[in-house]
Amino acid sequence: MSTSEEFAGLTAIVTGGASGIGRSVAELLLESGANVAVFDLNPDGAPHGALGLQCDVSDRASVEAAVESAAAEYGGIDIVINNAGIGAQGQVDANDDAEWNKVLNVNVVSVARVTAAALPYLRKSEHAAVVNTSSIAATAGLPERVLYSATKGAIYSMTLAMAADHVREGIRINAVCPGTANTPWVMSGLMSKAEKPEEELRQLNARQPHGRLVEPVEVARSIAFLASPLQGSTTGSTLAVDGGMQG
Ligand code: NAI
Repeated sequence: MSTSEEFAGLTAIVTGGASGIGRSVAELLLESGANVAVFDLNPDGAPHGALGLQCDVSDRASVEAAVESAAAEYGGIDIVINNAGIGAQGQVDANDDAEWNKVLNVNVVSVARVTAAALPYLRKSEHAAVVNTSSIAATAGLPERVLYSATKGAIYSMTLAMAADHVREGIRINAVCPGTANTPWVMSGLMSKAEKPEEELRQLNARQPHGRLVEPVEVARSIAFLASPLQGSTTGSTLAVDGGMQG
């Protein structure tokens, strides 16, 4: 089977598919023959060929409407890539309740919300797969990332529990745990805070065991690998894409 046929006839939702890792996944799935619906706050950034849908994953009505639009456009849903996420910085006393609720809602509850809304369609698919974007923050003990790590740890655990729940229905559920990646989110943070962004970037690269940031397309390839119909026996797994950070 050629790469261009691997996802032929399948329909994928990619949340946060207008930027960074999600955009790279959407591009790769399109190149591999899938129909792709991008759910994003800014759907104009969705790659050419995708169905860009304005969707706030932290809002149930918005998610349900987008799922129905995608299913109506393509006649079903086979793959859900739960990738949309936002950052949060600080120690345990840094974030107030409103911030905790917001980040938990966008990063964690969205995974349940989008997957649940798509579940009736996934149950009808011969090749149903969900891939969740966790993070190295789930397991690495990163400083100044208590809230963010809590959300990514939750996604890690949810992946295992959801995989167990749906394996007998033929729905595979896996996760990736990227290390620091070269995305607009990371780069804009660097540029806005650092006095000498180029020096900061050099140090950031040097802190990675393999000497550089992870490229979004590398995460995208791992997500596509886990979502592929060729991986029919892979479920409940988490794939590190972190240049050896946890090695
Ligand atoms: P990014 O900021 O470049 O892209 C995120 C996309 O999600 C944007 O298009 C944004 O509009 C969308 N989005 C944000 N909130 C949304 C909402 N409420 N509803 C719908 N769409 C929303 O981010 P990046 O770096 O590509 O990150 C993607 C995922 O990968 C996130 O879940 C992040 O936590 C995770 N991750 C990123 C790492 C990195 O170093 N960049 C490392 C490990 C995990």
